[in-house]
Amino acid sequence: MTEADQQRWDQRYAEVGLAPPGPAVPAVFAHCEELFPSAGSALEIACGRGRGAVWLASRGMTVHASDVSPVAVELARRHAADSGLADRCEFAVWDLDDGLPPGEPVHLVLCHLFREADIDQAMIDRLVPGGLLAVACLSEVGHGPGNFRSKPGELTTAFAALETIEAGEADGHAWFLGRR
Ligand SMILES: C[S@@+](CC[C@H](N)C(=O)[O-])C[C@H]1O[C@@H](n2cnc3c(N)ncnc32)[C@H](O)[C@@H]1O
Repeated sequence: MTEADQQRWDQRYAEVGLAPPGPAVPAVFAHCEELFPSAGSALEIACGRGRGAVWLASRGMTVHASDVSPVAVELARRHAADSGLADRCEFAVWDLDDGLPPGEPVHLVLCHLFREADIDQAMIDRLVPGGLLAVACLSEVGHGPGNFRSKPGELTTAFAALETIEAGEADGHAWFLGRR
C-alpha cells in the first residue's frame, strides 16, 4: 500500500475513534454466529478497530489480528483492553500487499470488509485441517458495479477448494464460510 493510502486510513480512524464498547458479531455473520468456533486460534486480517477480533476473543478464541493502519491497530488494542480481552488478542501493523503475516496454522481466518484475491490461497493454506475461513466483502449483487465489490459468485469460486458451510450474496454484500 502506498504511504498516502495508509495515511488516509490513519486519518479516517483518527476521526472515528474507538469502536463502540463490547463484542459485536459482524452483521453479515449474525445469522450463523453459532457456526464459529468458541476455542482455538484465529487470524484476522485487515482488522480495523478490532471489532471482529474482540468478538472472536469473547467467544473464547485466541486472536492474532493485523491492519496496515497503525492508528487502527492502536484503537484495536484499546478496544480489546476496554473489553477485558487483551490477554486473548494480539495486534500488529501489517501490509497485506506483502502477503499474510507469518504464523502457525489457525482454526479460523477472518477477513471482513477487505477483498484482495491475491491472498485467497494463502488464507486457505493458513487453516488447520477442519479449520474455517470466514470472508465477507462488498458485492455487486444487489448494488451494481463498484470499486472493491466482488463479482457475482466470486467468493464461492475463489474458495471452491473448501467445503461451503454458509455463503450468500445480497444487498451489496457477499459472505462465505467454508471448512478446509
Ligand atoms: C473497510 S475496513 C474493514 C475493517 C474491519 N475488518 C472491519 O470490518 O471493521 C478495511 C480495512 O482494511 C485495511 N487495509 C486496507 N489495505 C490494507 C493492506 N494492504 N494491508 C492491510 N490492511 C489493509 C484498512 O486499514 C481498513 O482497516
